[in-house]
This record gives sequence, C-alpha cells and structure tokens, in this order.
Amino acid sequence: MLKSFASDNTAGVHPRILAAMASANEGHAKAYGMDPWTSEAADVFRGHFGDDIDLYFVFLGTAANVLGLKSVTRPWHSVVCADVAHINVDECGAPESVTGSKLQVIPSHDGRIRVMDIVPLMHSLGNFHHSQPRVISITQTTELGTVYSPAQIRALADFAHANGMLLHMDGARLCNAAAALDTGLAALTRDTGVDVLSFGGTKNGMMFGEAVIFFNRELASEFKFIRKQGMQLVSKMRFIAAQFIELLRDGLWLENARNANSMARLMAESLRGLPHVTITRPVEANAVFARLSPEHIAALQKDFYFYEWDPVLHEVRWMTSFDSTEEQVMEFVHAIKRLA
Ligand SMILES: Cc1ncc(COP(=O)(O)O)c(C=O)c1O
Repeated sequence: MLKSFASDNTAGVHPRILAAMASANEGHAKAYGMDPWTSEAADVFRGHFGDDIDLYFVFLGTAANVLGLKSVTRPWHSVVCADVAHINVDECGAPESVTGSKLQVIPSHDGRIRVMDIVPLMHSLGNFHHSQPRVISITQTTELGTVYSPAQIRALADFAHANGMLLHMDGARLCNAAAALDTGLAALTRDTGVDVLSFGGTKNGMMFGEAVIFFNRELASEFKFIRKQGMQLVSKMRFIAAQFIELLRDGLWLENARNANSMARLMAESLRGLPHVTITRPVEANAVFARLSPEHIAALQKDFYFYEWDPVLHEVRWMTSFDSTEEQVMEFVHAIKRLA
C-alpha cells in the first residue's frame, strides 16, 4: 500500500460513503438529477446553507470553480485571486480559457489575500482599456493550509460588494476550515457574504462530486445551461447525491475533517524543534509545509509519497486525510527523526 502524505486526493473513499453509493444502486432511477436522491441531497444542503440557495452537482473541483466563475463573468471581466490560488496555478488555464476573463493575481500572505492588496486594482473600474474586476476569488482552506476567519471573509465580501463585485469561494476544503474554526458551513459562506461557492466532497471522503452553490439565486439563472455546455451534467447523478447525503446528513463531514486536521497537528507538533526540519506555514487545517535538505527529501521519498511543493526552496507539503491514523503519522515522524 502506498504510504502517502501527498494529498487528501490519494485517500480512498469512506466506507459509509461507499455503502451509501451501493444502497443507491437499486434498479433504475430518473437520470440527470430527476431522482429522489438528488432532491433529498438538496434538502440536506439546505439544512446547512439555508433554504434560498441554488445548488448544482458536478464531478470535479476544477469544473465547479470554472463553471461557477463563468456564470458570473463576461470576457471583459477579471477575477482577482491569490498567486497560489488553485484557479491560477492548477487548472491549466481553464478559468481564462472557459470564461474568457482575465485572472488578476495578487500576492498572498500564507495563502490569504487582503483587501489592501486589491484596492489598487480598483482604478480600472469603468476604464474601457482595462479588464473590469468582477469577482474576488478566495480558497478556504487556502492552498497553503491556512484558514480565513469569518471576519476576514466578511471584509473581502464587503469590499467586493461596495465596488460592484462578487465574492467566490473555492471551498474544496471548506469542511476542514469549519472543523478548524469550530463553525458551521454557513458561518463561513452565506453569513459572511459569499456569493458563489464551490463545495468540495472528494477531499473529505467522497469518491467524486462537488457542488456549486449560489447564495444569490439570480446569479444562477443560466447555470443549468452552463453546466451542460461545460460537460458536467452528470447523468447518474444519484451517485453523487447519495454520497453528499451520507457526508452531510449527520456529521460525517465534521468527523472526517476533524480527523484530517488533528493528524496534521500531531505531525507538526511532533516535528517542531527538530534541527533538520523547519515548518514554514501556520498549521491550521490538514496540511503541513516544511523545509528539509534535498538529501533528506529524497531519502524520505523512498518510503513515502509526497511532493516537493517548491523545489527551489526545498519546501514540501504533507497532507493528512479523513482516514489518516496516529500510527501512520508517527511512523512518518520517526522516519523524519531518523534522518538526522
Ligand atoms: C484548492 C483546490 N481547489 C480545487 C481543487 C479541485 O481539483 P479537481 O479538479 O482535481 O477536483 C483542488 C484539488 O486539488 C484544490 O486543492
């Protein structure tokens, strides 16, 4: 078995989710979301996020981001995001290619962006030579494993709205953020002014499936066409819906995310103070970033699978998952200690 701290994507599927998929496998059901599981899942989502949402399932997180952004932009718009944002770094240019709008990348601080760094872009508003800033996009938890507080999200939302813009959240790991802050899912989204949310399931124990949620329903008016044209209208949607029902109905999302977060904390605490390892980012959710010598990285990679996040700085990312165990983490920690 692969010993992996590369990503929460390398984990398998939570047994309860797999069982929920198996139990949805009962004969025929209407396709394309007209099945009873999809309507039950919508009720479960409404229980978390409120009654007045519009909700669409898609297969991929990249698709959730790109199609969510497409629904609120025109080609002369721009999307303001962090330099490290998944939409900027890891989506192969799909946001620009599919929406036609420009990404305006600003520096991040441990993964988070701030209003003061967006202010200078506002001079473009109304100037027909310039792309028009239309959306601020943030990632929760950030790509560097940090978490935006509700106040930080609210500040970005208020600034966006005051300038005629919208706030999009890439919530591929929103569950980890809510677990870290001990809040509900709405407290970090609808209650703090998020307009469009990509809500992730895959990284928290599902096999596949993400949701695009609109808190401002007017923004969703064309999304059913955008999703189909974007090739994400899933025919056997009941198998995404059944997974989300199981994840969100009675707290499995929180249990999974808490486990992932606490395993990262255990890893970081066990490594702190070692002379040959420097933890480089605040450990706030399920990722640990660290610097080691290239020789130590290569030696560890013989037995464990993980990426070098920044090959120039020799900074690595170690991620824990819903199913990471103390034994696995401590085996890894001991292997790191033995390098010295
Ligand atoms: C921050 C973030 N957003 C979105 C995604 C979605 O990616 P995918 O299209 O692989 O589901 C990922 C996956 O790694 C991610 O880390």
